[in-house]
Amino acid sequence: MPEGITVEKGCTYWFTGLSGAGKSTLSEYIKKQMDLQLGDSKKVFILDGDIIRTGLNKGLGFSPDDRKENIRRISEVSKLFNMAGMIVFVAFIAPYGADRDFAKNLHKEAGLTFAECYISASLEVCEGRDVKGLYKKARAGDIPNFTGVSAPYEAPAEPDLNINTGDLSMDACFAIVKKHMLENEVIRDHRMLRVCDTLVAEPSAEEAAAAASLPFVDINQMQCEYLQTLAENFAFPLKRFMNEMELLEVIQMKTLTDDQGKRHLLSVPITQAVSKGMKDALHGQKRVALKCTAVTGNKVLAVINNPVFFENRKEEICARTFGCFSTNHPGAEPIMAQDDWLISGESMNFYEHIKFNDGMDKYRMSPKEIQAAAKAKGADALFAFQVRNPLHNGHVLLLKDTREQLLKQGYKNPVLLLHPLGGWCKDDDVPLDTRMKQH
Ligand SMILES: Nc1ncnc2c1ncn2[C@@H]1O[C@H](COP(=O)(O)OP(=O)(O)O)[C@@H](O)[C@H]1O
Ligand SMILES: [Mg+2]
Repeated sequence: MPEGITVEKGCTYWFTGLSGAGKSTLSEYIKKQMDLQLGDSKKVFILDGDIIRTGLNKGLGFSPDDRKENIRRISEVSKLFNMAGMIVFVAFIAPYGADRDFAKNLHKEAGLTFAECYISASLEVCEGRDVKGLYKKARAGDIPNFTGVSAPYEAPAEPDLNINTGDLSMDACFAIVKKHMLENEVIRDHRMLRVCDTLVAEPSAEEAAAAASLPFVDINQMQCEYLQTLAENFAFPLKRFMNEMELLEVIQMKTLTDDQGKRHLLSVPITQAVSKGMKDALHGQKRVALKCTAVTGNKVLAVINNPVFFENRKEEICARTFGCFSTNHPGAEPIMAQDDWLISGESMNFYEHIKFNDGMDKYRMSPKEIQAAAKAKGADALFAFQVRNPLHNGHVLLLKDTREQLLKQGYKNPVLLLHPLGGWCKDDDVPLDTRMKQH
């Protein structure tokens, strides 16, 4: 199966707009990005008015009839490229609606996808840029029939895409075109969206009874929060408290490699410590249960299969994770307070959706629950903000601007996922419940 994106069919993106609007610049930029993402520079082709007029259409002028013939020829050419399965960016002013309609119909009749893209930088913006000095000459009367100055430009009334290059960055413009390509199945993205499912599988009565009689490790609340992180699959691709190789990769490389050999960013060591006495007591056990009596009483929350033990090199973990070592470092404190051995195993079973009964369990949503909530709100984009502090005006400005950028890119209902960092915090941090109220 292909890894990235592939071109599924030929299609014409007709960039129309005033001279200097950015038709050439934008088509070059988008082709470059597409070439990179496709890993192939022969799938996207540009037909640029400035170039075609020196070759195929040499000899045509700027009278309405010549402009019409100019468009007719280039429409036929882009159609042929489309029939060969290629995406074509046509960067032609094409000032007359009737000529653009001709181009559109020619493609539609052949069953080809055609998008009229209005590159809508205003005359003021284009003339202000005057990249080729043409406006100056046109104003001086040196160029007759100059679009926008001495010849008309009929702006598309209902373009398929409206791209205001006076307002948007090149990347934002590219995003608009790429979105259209995906929605119209011109390209396909094979890196399918992955929303991790929970790893919790409730045990049968038999399994539960067997687990209840296992020797167990009683973990503290902070570890219970890590266990929930694992169980609800927030730490994908990690499926257990880290073994030695996983820990080493995470602290050295800040990545974790999955079963397929794909590396994922992960910089947080997620380990479970045990004392020397506990390690010795568990020696030879095939299965070890995990409970958190402080939070969930006598329930078995998870089971470690075929346990292994290795040294908890706390100083090394702190130094690698935080880039320094001090026992006063707030992150180092709880690690240095841990026992001296770490327990992992061949695999883990997660038996419980852990509840903390602190009034905030409803906010501790799994990836699937977050996806469902976004769907229920009709979101077509989700932007997330994660913060350990109360929100301040700077944050809010950033969030409002992100929303506006997404609307400009053509999303209709971007929804914010405001994500307070819970878990352990310093004594003088604003407590989670207070922050939740503020949010
Ligand atoms: N978002 C944008 N997209 C395209 N061009 C932009 C953008 N922002 C600024 N520009 C500038 O506008 C000018 C457009 O010129 P050009 O591509 O030759 O226009 P056209 O081909 O439409 O006549 C370039 O100098 C380019 O750097
Ligand atoms: Mg151009």
